[in-house]
Amino acid sequence: MSPIAPLPTQAFPADFIWGVATAAFQIEGAATADGKGPSVWDSFCRQPGAIADASNGDVACDHYHRLEADLDLIASLGVNSYRFSVSWPRVQPLGQGAWNPAGLDFYERLVDGLLARGLQAHLTLNHWDLPQALQQQGGWMHRDTVQHFVDYARGIQARLGDRLSTLATHNEPWVMATLGHETGIFAPGVKSRRSASAVAHHLLLSHGLSLQALRADGARARLGIVLNQSPVQPATPSAEDAAAARLEDGKLVRWYMDPLLKGAYPEDVLAWLGDDGPPVQAGDLAAIAQPLDWLGLNYYSRAVVSASGAWDARQGGLPLTEMGWEIYPQGLTELLLRLKRDYAVPPLVITENGGAFPDATWHDGELADDDRCAYLASHIGAVGDALAAGVPMAGYIVWSLMDNFEWASGYAKRFGIVHVDYQSLARTPKRSARWLSAFMARQRLLAARG
Ligand code: FCB
Repeated sequence: MSPIAPLPTQAFPADFIWGVATAAFQIEGAATADGKGPSVWDSFCRQPGAIADASNGDVACDHYHRLEADLDLIASLGVNSYRFSVSWPRVQPLGQGAWNPAGLDFYERLVDGLLARGLQAHLTLNHWDLPQALQQQGGWMHRDTVQHFVDYARGIQARLGDRLSTLATHNEPWVMATLGHETGIFAPGVKSRRSASAVAHHLLLSHGLSLQALRADGARARLGIVLNQSPVQPATPSAEDAAAARLEDGKLVRWYMDPLLKGAYPEDVLAWLGDDGPPVQAGDLAAIAQPLDWLGLNYYSRAVVSASGAWDARQGGLPLTEMGWEIYPQGLTELLLRLKRDYAVPPLVITENGGAFPDATWHDGELADDDRCAYLASHIGAVGDALAAGVPMAGYIVWSLMDNFEWASGYAKRFGIVHVDYQSLARTPKRSARWLSAFMARQRLLAARG
């Protein structure tokens, strides 16, 4: 095959993590099968107007019933790793107390199926689908959820921990806090800055206390957390825009990086929050700042901020994805260099990166998603540049294995390197899947040559 986008040529370590990612709610379906309880996203989807195409996760990609075939699909890509999440309400329907054996068996089959195919298992405990039963008691706004999460983490480790390469506590706490509780465009749809700051704090605290508990229990997987991060740039050189960008950097990057790696919340954001600040109790910040074996970063684009709030991505002059997000691969290198400069970072894994594209052109029975191939090539190149500049990069994982339920956008936005026909549920690898396989084959060759 002559590759559509040239394969990145930088040298990557032989043990680099190369993978594809999904999340439970976005692919599993089987929303009420075998004793699964409802999650906040099951409930949110029922709110009128919450999801662009009025869809839900009831069937999604029906991955729950197609596990073996999907595992074969992952193996066929030539990657060495798979990142997935556990649906908390599938394994513990009420979020506390009784476990659901059928749910635990499903993830056991998943992990064993990965290992049988020579793939590493990278598990995320919380990719947003909190049990609805806990939401009814306040969810992440309530401090009790912290202890329930620690118990859940310990239960999952007890069952699967000996076979996992990595375990992440949370995926993108900023999204759950800010989009879930401040703007309310994601589940559970709360609109309160004060609630959002409590949620962020409880997520971070539950992360730290889980790491302590998992290590006390003899953790074997490498333990970490996954943050969405972007370089934040002012829309214009004006002092107002610079100040707005600085504050946004505080809310998006430093609000999470500082407590995790420096044991303190950033002063400027605390000042901005005023009385809405997080409900910190004695010992919380020390608990949050547990040593990280690795840190996951999800990167999609830069953030551009204007003090007037009027900035629109179409003004940037850069190509946009279907989400309206700017394609800005150098931002990934910028972000990684900045994090290395400002923090004592552990090994870093790009745990998500990819794009939604129209995916309309079929050639010879193949979906010719050349824009996605180019996106992946340029971002892998950006990771290679960071590595060459001394950033401790340990992996790169594509979002996503297959088209799936894209949260408030429903099924209209397709991120997969494998196409899903939502009528037949048939999976068809796109050209980007073939591109990735070619890249993986060359990496294996380079690794074998040493
Ligand atoms: C990230 C989410 C992931 C996916 C991508 C497009 O914020 O973690 O589930 O929806 O965006």
